[in-house]
This record gives sequence, structure tokens and C-alpha cells, in this order.
Amino acid sequence: LPPTIRQILSSPEVGETVAVTGWVKSIRKQKRIAFGVLSDGSSAVGLQAVFLEGLGERVKEITNGTSIRVRGSIVKSPGAGQDKELHVEEVEILGTCPPDTYPIQKQALTPEYLRDNTHLRARTDAISAMVRLRGLLMRKLDRYFERQDFAYAHTPVLTSGDAEGGGEAFRITPIPPSSERPPQTEERDFFARPAYLTVSHQLHLEALSTALTRVYTLSPCFRAERGVTRRHLAEFWMLEAEWGVARTDDPRTQTAALCDFVEGVVKSVVGDPAIIRGQDVDVLWRHREHDSVPEAERQKRREALVSAVTSDAPWPKMSYSDAIRELLKSDQKWTFPVRWGSALQSEHEKWLCETLVGGPLFVTDYPAGIKPFYMRANSPAPGEEEVTVGCFDLLVPQVGELAGGSVREERLDVLKASMESKGMNMDGERYGWYGDLRRFGGAPHVGFGLGFERLVGWVGGIENVRECIPMPRWAGRMVL
Ligand code: 4AD
Ligand code: MG
Repeated sequence: LPPTIRQILSSPEVGETVAVTGWVKSIRKQKRIAFGVLSDGSSAVGLQAVFLEGLGERVKEITNGTSIRVRGSIVKSPGAGQDKELHVEEVEILGTCPPDTYPIQKQALTPEYLRDNTHLRARTDAISAMVRLRGLLMRKLDRYFERQDFAYAHTPVLTSGDAEGGGEAFRITPIPPSSERPPQTEERDFFARPAYLTVSHQLHLEALSTALTRVYTLSPCFRAERGVTRRHLAEFWMLEAEWGVARTDDPRTQTAALCDFVEGVVKSVVGDPAIIRGQDVDVLWRHREHDSVPEAERQKRREALVSAVTSDAPWPKMSYSDAIRELLKSDQKWTFPVRWGSALQSEHEKWLCETLVGGPLFVTDYPAGIKPFYMRANSPAPGEEEVTVGCFDLLVPQVGELAGGSVREERLDVLKASMESKGMNMDGERYGWYGDLRRFGGAPHVGFGLGFERLVGWVGGIENVRECIPMPRWAGRMVL
């Protein structure tokens, strides 16, 4: 393949002749000469191109958004900002772009306007930087897990149950082959049982973990989230991992080790200079014309992020019971009451990590009643009114919950009782297989899930998860 603009900017020498294809990001025409910036999306920085005299009428047709192929020589740039530029000797117009109707104009465009133009919005600097950042994060995560000897697993998207018990799964049915014919029984019940889009890959990963020990995936998850917030999508990606651990009588030590592992993953990947000091993250933090946050505050947030992911100091851990105590002590006026046994609301999570600790915070050992059936019960501890489970939520500033995980209940009888208390039958058709994972060589294991869009949002300082995935879907909206 011919070189991309990123490759040209990072290697070919001055004097070399190159040919490159891209879209015109800007063009300034003077009498005999024109100056343009060409982007092919390979890097946050475009290639400055000088269209010299003699290119004829074609330069007149070039407007923002035009797709062109140019050939020319790389010369040292006299201007500041870029050390090389292209002196164009030949230009071929691949696709013109009418300036009056092109939706992506040079002035700042609101996020909402760009969501209406989802099919074209990757032409903007921020969205293309986000797409590249996702790819970079994914590859760095893969490398991290590979080094730790985890197997990457392709777990199913079609599933037979709602793994989280949250009642947010989408049920699927095939469309009938033709509108004339009413759906046949086998079409209505294609799998001979109800089928859903997965809300989490955890249970299937657990099955694989009983053979491969260390497994992970980065896969799409689907949830019919009815509340429209800036942190929820109907289709999102989750990094999930499961692995075997030594037996313990006290899950609290396992939970602490699990938090340390998650912290290691995030610090090693996000703290990598190629990410945190990379051009794409820089573009994302700078291109914020529509942010509600003032510039000085944004700078402060960015510095806090860099220090959180590059510092050796461990992120604090706090039990749910202690978190409740801190929330009760504070003089904040809460919209939702703070009570032991209730879920933490986003206002509580926000206060804990942003105000109380000023950075990432692990909250551990939640009441069993507000967590899913698969979490391992703790032994009782002072201050806990009811049984708690060995689990954590990782809270980070601006985002709130970034990840959650737990020690998994490996004791068959305790698991069975826990499922029954949540109206699930471990001996039934739907979850019998999950019991088998404990019946046949069951081994203690732990795992977690981390929301990929929320990670992208935290790293890039992006306010809404809808700008953290190329083509967002949420309740009420699916543009393409
Ligand atoms: O906390 P959740 O629901 O946990 C699980 O699903 C576990 N089974 C994970 C595991 O242990 N393997 O979801 C995990 C993370 C959340 O912390 C959040 O970051 C993200 O997934 N998440 C969403 N992100 C975007 N849109 C949504 N609707 C999300 N729901 C959860
Ligand atoms: Mg959670």
C-alpha cells in the first residue's frame, strides 16, 4: 500500500516524491498558489500541501471535503507547526464536495448536530481522534493481557439469559420471510427458547475460565437502558476478564488483589505515553468548543487524570459501609437518600471520587441485596447490617462507575441459595450449566468488566459517551 500521511510525516525524507489520497480539511487560494491541509485520518495532524502554479483549473474545484489524490515532493516547511510539507505537482479530483450543502463546515459544530450527521462526523478532528484512540486502547489492552497469558475469547452475542438480572436485555426474534405469510412457530421461537442480546459476557467467560483459567474479551453488550444519561448507551463495548485464584476463607483479600489487578491494567494501558501523551488524546482535550466546562477547570482535570494514571501511589479503596458513613457525615443536600443497603446514586459516586478523594476510588464489599447473584458472600464484619459480597466498583472523576467486578461464588450450595433468593433456579434449563461449572472441578475465580466507552471518555475528557463510539445507539435514536 502507498504511505499514509502519518507515515509520510514520520519518515520520508525531504526531497522524496510521494503520492497520497485524502480529504481537504481547509484550502486557502491566492492568485497563483493555494495552501491546503489534507487528511486521510491516519493521524491527528494533516499534511500541509502547497498547490503551485501550473495545476490549472483543477485547483478551483477543490473545496473543503473534496477527495483528492496528489503527487509531489516533500520539502522542508518554512512555517511553524510542521517541519515538512508537500509541494503538489499533480492533482486528481476523486470526488467533489459542494460547499453550500456539505454538512461539515469549518465552524464549530455542536455534538447534537454531529449526531444527526453521524455518517459524516468522523471528518471532524475530535471524532476521528476518538476512533483512533479506541483502536489504540484496544491494541494496548490486548498486549497487556497477552503478556499475562490470558486467552482472548470470542463469547456469544446471542444468549439465553439476562446475566446481570437487571431486566434490561433486548429480546430477539427473526423477521418473517415475507409480509404475506404469518410467522411460523419455528420463526417465533427460532432457538426453541427465548433469546436475547447479551448484557455481559461474564457467565460465558466463566465457563471458558474453568478450562483456560485466564480469559478475557472486548465485546459488544446491549442494554435497553430507559433512562437517557450521558453515561449509558444501548450498544456499548465491555472489557471483561475472568481468572482462577487461590482459595481463601476471606474474599476481602481477593477483592483487594482484584482491585490491584484492575488498577494495573488501567495504569499500564492509559498511562502509556503513546496514549496519555499522544496526539489523539491531546486533540480530544483541546477541541472542546461546546463543553460546559471552563478552560482552567478542564486543564485541572487533565492534569489530575495524568497524575492518576502515571503515579505509583495506589488508588484508595474504601468499603461500601465506610462510603455510606462518609456520605452521611458530609453536609451535602442529596436528591437520593443515603442509607445502608441502597445503591449508590451517581451524585454519591461523584462526590466520593471528585470531592472526598479527588481521583479514582475503589468502593468494595457492597450489600448482597443490591448486587447480582454470582458474587461471593463475605464473612460478617463490624458495621455491616446484612451480608456483603466480595466486589468492587471503580469510580473515576467525571465518569462515575468505570468498572465493576467481584470474587465469584464458587460454593454450590451458597450459589444455589443466592440464586433462589433472586428468583432464579440453578437446577432449571436456563442456569443449570452455570451450576455445572461448580459441580465439575469448580475452582475459585474472580473477574471484572470495564466499560470501554467510559474509559475513552475519561481518557479523552469527553462529556458524553455518545461521542465515545463511532455510531452511538441509545433510547430513541439510531441514526444509521
Ligand atoms: O456494572 P456492570 O453492569 O457489570 C457487569 O455487567 C459484570 N457482569 C461485569 C463483569 O464482572 N464481567 O457493567 C460493567 C461496566 C460498568 O462499570 C460500565 O462502565 C459499563 O460496563 N456499562 C455501560 N457503559 C455504557 N452504556 C451502558 N448502558 C453501560 N452499562 C454498563
Ligand atoms: Mg456495575
